[in-house]
Amino acid sequence: MPSTKTAALRSPLTGLARPDTQARQAPGAGAPALNEPRSSAPEAAARPILRMHNVSKSFQALPVLKDLNLQIAEGEFLTLLGPSGCGKSTSLNIVAGLLAPDTGTVCLRGIIANDLPPQRRRLGMVFQSWALFPHMSVADNIAYGLRMAGTGDKTTLRRRVGEMLDLVRLPGTETKFPSQLSGGMQQRVALARALVTEPDLLLLDEPLSNLDAALRKEMQVELKRIHERLGVTTLLVTHSQEEALVMSDRIAVMRGGRIERIDTPMNVYADPRTSFVCTFVGDANVLTARVEALSAGEAKLAIGPLSLVAPAAPWWREGGEAVIALRPESLAIAAAGSQPGGADAAEAGRWSAKVTDRIFKGSSITYELSAGDAQIHLLALPQPDGRVFRRGEAAEIVVPKASVIALNAPEETEAGT
Ligand SMILES: Nc1ncnc2c1ncn2[C@@H]1O[C@H](COP(=O)(O)OP(=O)(O)OP(=O)(O)O)[C@@H](O)[C@H]1O
Ligand SMILES: [Mg+2]
Repeated sequence: MPSTKTAALRSPLTGLARPDTQARQAPGAGAPALNEPRSSAPEAAARPILRMHNVSKSFQALPVLKDLNLQIAEGEFLTLLGPSGCGKSTSLNIVAGLLAPDTGTVCLRGIIANDLPPQRRRLGMVFQSWALFPHMSVADNIAYGLRMAGTGDKTTLRRRVGEMLDLVRLPGTETKFPSQLSGGMQQRVALARALVTEPDLLLLDEPLSNLDAALRKEMQVELKRIHERLGVTTLLVTHSQEEALVMSDRIAVMRGGRIERIDTPMNVYADPRTSFVCTFVGDANVLTARVEALSAGEAKLAIGPLSLVAPAAPWWREGGEAVIALRPESLAIAAAGSQPGGADAAEAGRWSAKVTDRIFKGSSITYELSAGDAQIHLLALPQPDGRVFRRGEAAEIVVPKASVIALNAPEETEAGT
Protein backbone atom coordinates (compact mmCIF):
# COMPACT_ATOMS: atom_id res chain seq x y z
CA MET A 1 0.00 0.00 0.00
CA PRO A 2 1.45 3.37 -0.83
CA SER A 3 2.38 5.21 2.30
CA THR A 4 1.75 8.90 2.72
CA LYS A 5 3.97 9.43 5.71
CA THR A 6 5.56 12.77 6.06
CA ALA A 7 9.31 12.91 6.04
CA ALA A 8 10.52 13.15 9.60
CA LEU A 9 13.90 14.38 8.50
CA ARG A 10 12.71 16.55 5.70
CA SER A 11 13.78 19.93 6.88
CA PRO A 12 13.19 22.91 4.62
CA LEU A 13 16.52 21.96 3.15
CA THR A 14 17.38 23.37 -0.15
CA GLY A 15 17.83 20.04 -1.93
CA LEU A 16 19.41 19.64 -5.32
CA ALA A 17 19.19 22.25 -8.03
CA ARG A 18 15.73 21.84 -9.32
CA PRO A 19 14.90 20.90 -12.87
CA ASP A 20 13.69 22.18 -15.17
CA THR A 21 12.96 24.29 -18.07
CA GLN A 22 13.68 21.46 -20.50
CA ALA A 23 11.07 19.22 -19.01
CA ARG A 24 7.99 18.77 -21.08
CA GLN A 25 4.54 18.33 -19.67
CA ALA A 26 3.26 14.78 -20.00
CA PRO A 27 0.15 14.70 -22.13
CA GLY A 28 -2.87 15.16 -19.90
CA ALA A 29 -0.80 14.88 -16.75
CA GLY A 30 -1.87 18.25 -15.34
CA ALA A 31 0.99 17.99 -12.88
CA PRO A 32 3.21 20.75 -11.60
CA ALA A 33 6.66 21.41 -12.98
CA LEU A 34 9.54 19.56 -11.35
CA ASN A 35 10.71 22.77 -9.71
CA GLU A 36 7.51 23.24 -7.75
CA PRO A 37 7.69 22.43 -4.05
CA ARG A 38 6.50 19.08 -2.75
CA SER A 39 2.85 19.15 -1.93
CA SER A 40 1.14 17.36 0.91
CA ALA A 41 -2.27 17.76 -0.75
CA PRO A 42 -4.23 14.50 -1.09
CA GLU A 43 -3.88 14.59 -4.87
CA ALA A 44 -0.08 14.48 -4.45
CA ALA A 45 -0.39 11.03 -2.88
CA ALA A 46 -2.37 9.79 -5.86
CA ARG A 47 0.01 11.30 -8.39
CA PRO A 48 2.66 8.85 -9.46
CA ILE A 49 6.23 9.89 -8.75
CA LEU A 50 7.36 7.67 -11.62
CA ARG A 51 5.50 6.50 -14.65
CA MET A 52 7.12 4.37 -17.32
CA HIS A 53 4.90 4.08 -20.34
CA ASN A 54 5.52 1.50 -23.10
CA VAL A 55 9.26 1.62 -22.54
CA SER A 56 11.27 -0.58 -24.89
CA LYS A 57 15.00 -1.08 -25.15
CA SER A 58 17.17 -3.31 -27.31
CA PHE A 59 20.89 -3.96 -27.22
CA GLN A 60 22.41 -4.97 -30.56
CA ALA A 61 18.91 -5.62 -31.92
CA LEU A 62 18.12 -7.92 -29.00
CA PRO A 63 15.00 -6.69 -27.20
CA VAL A 64 15.62 -6.40 -23.46
CA LEU A 65 12.58 -4.36 -22.41
CA LYS A 66 9.30 -4.84 -24.20
CA ASP A 67 6.64 -2.17 -23.71
CA LEU A 68 7.26 -1.92 -20.01
CA ASN A 69 4.61 -0.09 -18.01
CA LEU A 70 5.08 0.84 -14.39
CA GLN A 71 3.82 3.43 -11.94
CA ILE A 72 5.03 4.23 -8.46
CA ALA A 73 2.92 6.28 -6.10
CA GLU A 74 4.43 8.81 -3.74
CA GLY A 75 5.87 7.11 -0.66
CA GLU A 76 5.62 3.64 -2.15
CA PHE A 77 8.32 0.97 -1.89
CA LEU A 78 8.17 -0.96 -5.14
CA THR A 79 10.45 -3.85 -6.05
CA LEU A 80 11.34 -5.13 -9.48
CA LEU A 81 11.93 -8.82 -8.93
CA GLY A 82 13.13 -11.22 -11.57
CA PRO A 83 15.84 -13.61 -12.70
CA SER A 84 19.22 -12.53 -13.98
CA GLY A 85 19.04 -10.87 -17.38
CA CYS A 86 15.31 -10.08 -17.32
CA GLY A 87 15.94 -6.34 -17.64
CA LYS A 88 15.77 -5.04 -14.06
CA SER A 89 18.94 -2.95 -14.12
CA THR A 90 18.16 -1.75 -17.63
CA SER A 91 14.81 -0.46 -16.34
CA LEU A 92 16.45 1.24 -13.38
CA ASN A 93 19.17 2.79 -15.54
CA ILE A 94 16.51 4.19 -17.84
CA VAL A 95 14.73 5.77 -14.86
CA ALA A 96 18.08 7.14 -13.67
CA GLY A 97 18.81 8.64 -17.09
CA LEU A 98 21.95 6.54 -17.52
CA LEU A 99 20.35 4.82 -20.52
CA ALA A 100 17.88 6.21 -23.03
CA PRO A 101 14.83 4.13 -23.95
CA ASP A 102 14.37 3.30 -27.66
CA THR A 103 10.68 4.07 -27.40
CA GLY A 104 8.28 5.05 -24.64
CA THR A 105 8.26 7.69 -21.96
CA VAL A 106 9.61 8.08 -18.46
CA CYS A 107 7.66 10.62 -16.44
CA LEU A 108 8.87 11.92 -13.11
CA ARG A 109 6.19 13.69 -11.10
CA GLY A 110 4.06 13.95 -14.23
CA ILE A 111 6.74 15.46 -16.43
CA ILE A 112 8.33 13.65 -19.35
CA ALA A 113 11.93 13.27 -18.27
CA ASN A 114 13.40 11.35 -21.25
CA ASP A 115 15.78 14.21 -22.06
CA LEU A 116 16.71 15.16 -18.51
CA PRO A 117 20.29 14.37 -17.51
CA PRO A 118 20.65 12.11 -14.43
CA GLN A 119 21.75 14.88 -12.07
CA ARG A 120 18.58 16.84 -12.77
CA ARG A 121 16.12 14.05 -12.02
CA ARG A 122 16.14 14.45 -8.24
CA LEU A 123 17.02 10.83 -7.64
CA GLY A 124 19.10 9.05 -5.05
CA MET A 125 20.94 5.95 -6.21
CA VAL A 126 22.61 3.03 -4.49
CA PHE A 127 24.05 0.25 -6.57
CA GLN A 128 25.43 -3.20 -5.92
CA SER A 129 29.00 -1.99 -5.68
CA TRP A 130 28.49 0.95 -3.39
CA ALA A 131 31.50 2.81 -4.77
CA LEU A 132 32.13 5.37 -2.08
CA PHE A 133 34.89 7.81 -2.93
CA PRO A 134 37.84 6.06 -1.25
CA HIS A 135 39.88 9.21 -0.74
CA MET A 136 37.03 11.07 0.99
CA SER A 137 35.94 10.79 4.60
CA VAL A 138 32.49 9.48 5.45
CA ALA A 139 31.30 13.05 6.04
CA ASP A 140 32.62 14.24 2.68
CA ASN A 141 31.12 11.25 0.90
CA ILE A 142 27.71 11.99 2.39
CA ALA A 143 27.87 15.73 1.81
CA TYR A 144 29.02 15.26 -1.79
CA GLY A 145 25.58 15.67 -3.41
CA LEU A 146 24.82 18.80 -1.43
CA ARG A 147 28.23 20.30 -2.26
CA MET A 148 27.77 19.58 -5.97
CA ALA A 149 24.45 21.37 -5.86
CA GLY A 150 26.11 24.24 -4.01
CA THR A 151 23.57 24.05 -1.24
CA GLY A 152 24.08 24.62 2.44
CA ASP A 153 26.79 26.37 4.41
CA LYS A 154 29.34 24.48 6.49
CA THR A 155 27.13 24.30 9.57
CA THR A 156 24.14 23.02 7.59
CA LEU A 157 26.27 20.40 5.87
CA ARG A 158 27.68 19.23 9.19
CA ARG A 159 24.20 19.02 10.67
CA ARG A 160 22.79 17.15 7.67
CA VAL A 161 25.68 14.67 7.69
CA GLY A 162 25.08 14.10 11.41
CA GLU A 163 21.35 13.56 10.82
CA MET A 164 22.05 11.08 8.04
CA LEU A 165 24.58 9.15 10.13
CA ASP A 166 22.04 8.95 12.94
CA LEU A 167 19.48 7.70 10.46
CA VAL A 168 21.70 4.88 9.20
CA ARG A 169 22.94 4.21 12.75
CA LEU A 170 26.55 5.16 12.24
CA PRO A 171 26.89 8.19 14.48
CA GLY A 172 30.39 9.50 15.07
CA THR A 173 31.96 8.00 11.94
CA GLU A 174 32.33 11.33 10.11
CA THR A 175 36.12 11.30 9.96
CA LYS A 176 36.55 7.64 9.04
CA PHE A 177 37.49 6.57 5.51
CA PRO A 178 35.61 3.88 3.55
CA SER A 179 38.49 1.41 3.87
CA GLN A 180 38.09 1.57 7.65
CA LEU A 181 34.46 0.42 7.43
CA SER A 182 32.91 -3.03 6.97
CA GLY A 183 30.85 -3.80 3.86
CA GLY A 184 27.61 -3.29 5.73
CA MET A 185 28.78 0.04 7.12
CA GLN A 186 29.88 1.21 3.68
CA GLN A 187 26.48 0.33 2.33
CA ARG A 188 24.87 2.43 5.05
CA VAL A 189 27.08 5.35 4.11
CA ALA A 190 26.11 4.89 0.46
CA LEU A 191 22.48 5.01 1.56
CA ALA A 192 23.07 8.15 3.60
CA ARG A 193 24.80 9.73 0.60
CA ALA A 194 21.81 8.92 -1.60
CA LEU A 195 19.27 10.23 0.90
CA VAL A 196 20.93 13.47 1.99
CA THR A 197 19.66 15.38 -1.04
CA GLU A 198 16.07 14.40 -0.20
CA PRO A 199 15.46 12.73 -3.54
CA ASP A 200 11.99 12.33 -5.01
CA LEU A 201 12.82 8.74 -5.78
CA LEU A 202 15.43 6.40 -4.33
CA LEU A 203 16.78 3.82 -6.79
CA LEU A 204 18.40 0.73 -5.31
CA ASP A 205 20.00 -1.86 -7.60
CA GLU A 206 20.78 -5.06 -5.67
CA PRO A 207 22.17 -2.93 -2.83
CA LEU A 208 22.49 -5.86 -0.45
CA SER A 209 23.94 -8.53 -2.71
CA ASN A 210 27.54 -7.89 -1.68
CA LEU A 211 26.71 -8.51 1.98
CA ASP A 212 26.78 -11.83 3.77
CA ALA A 213 23.48 -13.51 4.62
CA ALA A 214 23.21 -12.24 8.21
CA LEU A 215 24.07 -8.67 7.28
CA ARG A 216 21.69 -8.80 4.35
CA LYS A 217 18.81 -9.70 6.67
CA GLU A 218 19.78 -6.92 9.06
CA MET A 219 19.96 -4.39 6.22
CA GLN A 220 16.57 -5.48 4.89
CA VAL A 221 15.01 -4.51 8.19
CA GLU A 222 17.10 -1.35 8.29
CA LEU A 223 16.06 -0.28 4.80
CA LYS A 224 12.43 -0.87 5.63
CA ARG A 225 12.76 1.14 8.83
CA ILE A 226 14.38 4.02 6.96
CA HIS A 227 11.68 3.91 4.32
CA GLU A 228 8.99 4.01 6.97
CA ARG A 229 10.69 6.86 8.76
CA LEU A 230 11.33 9.05 5.71
CA GLY A 231 8.50 7.93 3.44
CA VAL A 232 10.86 8.26 0.49
CA THR A 233 9.51 6.69 -2.69
CA THR A 234 11.75 3.73 -3.43
CA LEU A 235 12.35 1.51 -6.45
CA LEU A 236 14.39 -1.56 -5.54
CA VAL A 237 15.80 -4.09 -7.98
CA THR A 238 16.56 -7.57 -6.74
CA HIS A 239 16.50 -11.19 -7.76
CA SER A 240 15.92 -12.26 -4.15
CA GLN A 241 12.29 -13.13 -3.50
CA GLU A 242 12.87 -12.87 0.24
CA GLU A 243 14.15 -9.31 -0.06
CA ALA A 244 11.16 -8.39 -2.20
CA LEU A 245 8.61 -10.00 0.11
CA VAL A 246 10.10 -8.49 3.27
CA MET A 247 10.51 -4.92 2.13
CA SER A 248 7.99 -4.00 -0.55
CA ASP A 249 4.59 -2.36 -0.64
CA ARG A 250 4.25 -3.86 -4.11
CA ILE A 251 6.30 -6.30 -6.15
CA ALA A 252 6.58 -6.29 -9.94
CA VAL A 253 7.76 -9.71 -11.10
CA MET A 254 9.67 -9.36 -14.37
CA ARG A 255 10.36 -11.97 -17.00
CA GLY A 256 12.01 -11.44 -20.35
CA GLY A 257 11.68 -7.66 -20.34
CA ARG A 258 8.06 -7.56 -19.24
CA ILE A 259 6.19 -7.32 -15.97
CA GLU A 260 4.31 -10.56 -15.52
CA ARG A 261 2.58 -9.76 -12.24
CA ILE A 262 2.40 -6.68 -10.03
CA ASP A 263 0.65 -6.51 -6.68
CA THR A 264 1.27 -6.55 -2.93
CA PRO A 265 3.64 -9.25 -1.69
CA MET A 266 0.77 -11.19 -0.11
CA ASN A 267 -1.36 -11.09 -3.26
CA VAL A 268 1.52 -12.06 -5.52
CA TYR A 269 2.34 -14.98 -3.24
CA ALA A 270 -1.26 -16.13 -2.77
CA ASP A 271 -2.43 -15.52 -6.32
CA PRO A 272 0.60 -15.57 -8.60
CA ARG A 273 -1.43 -16.28 -11.78
CA THR A 274 1.44 -17.92 -13.71
CA SER A 275 3.70 -20.83 -12.84
CA PHE A 276 6.73 -18.64 -13.40
CA VAL A 277 5.62 -16.08 -10.80
CA CYS A 278 4.39 -18.83 -8.48
CA THR A 279 7.74 -20.60 -8.35
CA PHE A 280 9.80 -17.42 -8.45
CA VAL A 281 8.28 -15.94 -5.31
CA GLY A 282 8.16 -19.22 -3.40
CA ASP A 283 8.13 -22.95 -3.43
CA ALA A 284 5.25 -24.88 -4.97
CA ASN A 285 4.02 -28.19 -6.34
CA VAL A 286 2.76 -27.30 -9.82
CA LEU A 287 0.37 -29.91 -11.22
CA THR A 288 -1.61 -30.26 -14.41
CA ALA A 289 -5.13 -31.57 -13.89
CA ARG A 290 -8.12 -32.43 -16.04
CA VAL A 291 -11.37 -30.62 -15.25
CA GLU A 292 -13.86 -33.49 -14.96
CA ALA A 293 -16.89 -31.51 -13.86
CA LEU A 294 -17.87 -27.96 -12.99
CA SER A 295 -20.81 -27.06 -10.81
CA ALA A 296 -21.83 -24.46 -8.26
CA GLY A 297 -18.50 -22.72 -8.40
CA GLU A 298 -16.57 -25.93 -7.72
CA ALA A 299 -14.51 -28.08 -10.01
CA LYS A 300 -13.78 -31.77 -9.82
CA LEU A 301 -10.20 -32.19 -10.93
CA ALA A 302 -8.25 -35.33 -11.78
CA ILE A 303 -4.50 -35.47 -11.57
CA GLY A 304 -3.97 -38.96 -12.95
CA PRO A 305 -5.64 -41.18 -10.33
CA LEU A 306 -5.81 -38.41 -7.71
CA SER A 307 -8.96 -36.38 -7.40
CA LEU A 308 -9.63 -32.99 -5.96
CA VAL A 309 -12.70 -30.79 -5.49
CA ALA A 310 -11.60 -27.18 -5.51
CA PRO A 311 -13.08 -23.73 -6.04
CA ALA A 312 -13.33 -23.29 -9.81
CA ALA A 313 -11.31 -20.65 -11.60
CA PRO A 314 -13.39 -18.64 -14.07
CA TRP A 315 -11.25 -19.73 -17.02
CA TRP A 316 -11.52 -23.49 -16.39
CA ARG A 317 -13.69 -25.45 -18.81
CA GLU A 318 -15.18 -28.92 -18.41
CA GLY A 319 -12.96 -31.45 -20.16
CA GLY A 320 -10.16 -28.91 -20.33
CA GLU A 321 -6.85 -28.59 -18.54
CA ALA A 322 -6.27 -26.83 -15.22
CA VAL A 323 -2.81 -25.97 -13.95
CA ILE A 324 -2.74 -25.69 -10.18
CA ALA A 325 -0.13 -25.01 -7.52
CA LEU A 326 -0.03 -26.29 -3.98
CA ARG A 327 2.41 -24.54 -1.67
CA PRO A 328 4.26 -27.03 0.60
CA GLU A 329 3.31 -25.19 3.78
CA SER A 330 -0.40 -25.27 2.95
CA LEU A 331 -0.55 -29.07 2.71
CA ALA A 332 -0.67 -31.45 5.67
CA ILE A 333 0.47 -34.99 6.23
CA ALA A 334 -1.75 -37.44 8.10
CA ALA A 335 -1.54 -41.07 9.14
CA ALA A 336 -2.67 -43.57 6.53
CA GLY A 337 -6.37 -44.34 6.87
CA SER A 338 -7.06 -41.41 9.18
CA GLN A 339 -10.42 -39.73 8.83
CA PRO A 340 -11.00 -36.07 8.04
CA GLY A 341 -11.49 -33.98 11.16
CA GLY A 342 -14.29 -31.50 11.80
CA ALA A 343 -13.04 -29.17 9.11
CA ASP A 344 -13.48 -31.78 6.37
CA ALA A 345 -15.72 -29.50 4.28
CA ALA A 346 -12.62 -27.39 3.80
CA GLU A 347 -10.71 -30.34 2.38
CA ALA A 348 -10.25 -30.46 -1.38
CA GLY A 349 -8.85 -33.93 -1.25
CA ARG A 350 -6.90 -36.61 0.59
CA TRP A 351 -4.38 -38.67 -1.30
CA SER A 352 -2.81 -41.94 -0.29
CA ALA A 353 0.90 -41.48 -0.52
CA LYS A 354 4.24 -42.94 0.42
CA VAL A 355 6.99 -40.98 2.15
CA THR A 356 10.02 -41.03 -0.15
CA ASP A 357 12.20 -38.61 1.76
CA ARG A 358 12.27 -36.59 4.95
CA ILE A 359 14.43 -33.54 5.55
CA PHE A 360 14.63 -32.28 9.11
CA LYS A 361 15.12 -28.51 9.30
CA GLY A 362 14.79 -27.80 13.00
CA SER A 363 11.64 -25.73 13.06
CA SER A 364 10.04 -27.79 10.29
CA ILE A 365 10.28 -31.05 8.38
CA THR A 366 10.03 -31.31 4.61
CA TYR A 367 8.45 -34.54 3.42
CA GLU A 368 8.74 -35.79 -0.14
CA LEU A 369 5.89 -38.10 -1.04
CA SER A 370 4.77 -40.02 -4.08
CA ALA A 371 1.04 -40.02 -4.69
CA GLY A 372 -0.46 -41.43 -7.88
CA ASP A 373 1.93 -40.34 -10.62
CA ALA A 374 2.94 -37.18 -8.77
CA GLN A 375 5.82 -36.29 -6.50
CA ILE A 376 4.63 -33.86 -3.83
CA HIS A 377 6.63 -32.10 -1.17
CA LEU A 378 5.12 -30.52 1.89
CA LEU A 379 6.29 -28.70 4.96
CA ALA A 380 5.17 -29.98 8.35
CA LEU A 381 5.66 -28.41 11.74
CA PRO A 382 6.79 -30.76 14.53
CA GLN A 383 3.76 -32.50 16.01
CA PRO A 384 2.97 -32.00 19.72
CA ASP A 385 3.07 -35.79 20.17
CA GLY A 386 6.48 -35.92 18.50
CA ARG A 387 5.08 -38.04 15.65
CA VAL A 388 7.27 -38.09 12.56
CA PHE A 389 6.80 -40.12 9.40
CA ARG A 390 9.56 -42.43 8.26
CA ARG A 391 10.91 -42.95 4.81
CA GLY A 392 8.87 -45.66 3.09
CA GLU A 393 5.88 -45.19 5.41
CA ALA A 394 2.34 -44.91 4.04
CA ALA A 395 0.65 -41.58 4.78
CA GLU A 396 -2.03 -39.26 3.47
CA ILE A 397 -1.61 -35.88 1.91
CA VAL A 398 -4.35 -33.55 3.05
CA VAL A 399 -5.16 -30.81 0.54
CA PRO A 400 -7.21 -27.96 2.03
CA LYS A 401 -9.51 -26.16 -0.42
CA ALA A 402 -7.88 -22.84 0.39
CA SER A 403 -4.52 -24.23 -0.68
CA VAL A 404 -5.42 -24.74 -4.33
CA ILE A 405 -3.93 -21.95 -6.44
CA ALA A 406 -5.22 -21.72 -9.99
CA LEU A 407 -2.51 -20.82 -12.48
CA ASN A 408 -2.37 -19.82 -16.12
CA ALA A 409 -4.93 -17.07 -15.78
CA PRO A 410 -5.58 -15.28 -19.05
CA GLU A 411 -3.20 -12.33 -19.48
CA GLU A 412 -3.76 -9.25 -17.38
CA THR A 413 -4.21 -5.98 -19.17
CA GLU A 414 -1.43 -3.43 -18.83
CA ALA A 415 0.50 -4.56 -15.79
CA GLY A 416 1.49 -1.70 -13.57
CA THR A 417 -0.76 0.97 -14.93
N1 LIG B 1 25.10 -2.21 -22.28
C1 LIG B 1 24.65 -3.38 -22.71
N2 LIG B 1 25.01 -3.86 -23.92
C2 LIG B 1 24.55 -5.04 -24.37
N3 LIG B 1 23.71 -5.82 -23.69
C3 LIG B 1 23.31 -5.41 -22.48
C4 LIG B 1 23.77 -4.16 -21.93
N4 LIG B 1 23.20 -4.01 -20.70
C5 LIG B 1 22.44 -5.11 -20.51
N5 LIG B 1 22.51 -5.94 -21.56
C6 LIG B 1 21.78 -7.21 -21.69
O1 LIG B 1 20.42 -6.97 -21.43
C7 LIG B 1 19.84 -8.02 -20.67
C8 LIG B 1 19.24 -7.44 -19.40
O2 LIG B 1 20.28 -6.93 -18.59
P1 LIG B 1 20.01 -6.31 -17.15
O3 LIG B 1 21.33 -5.85 -16.65
O4 LIG B 1 18.92 -5.31 -17.24
O5 LIG B 1 19.50 -7.59 -16.37
P2 LIG B 1 19.15 -7.75 -14.82
O6 LIG B 1 17.72 -8.18 -14.76
O7 LIG B 1 19.53 -6.54 -14.08
O8 LIG B 1 20.05 -9.00 -14.43
P3 LIG B 1 20.96 -9.24 -13.10
O9 LIG B 1 20.02 -9.82 -12.07
O10 LIG B 1 21.95 -10.27 -13.57
O11 LIG B 1 21.60 -7.96 -12.69
C9 LIG B 1 20.95 -9.01 -20.44
O12 LIG B 1 20.82 -10.03 -21.38
C10 LIG B 1 22.22 -8.22 -20.66
O13 LIG B 1 23.24 -9.05 -21.16
MG1 LIG C 1 21.03 -6.12 -12.66
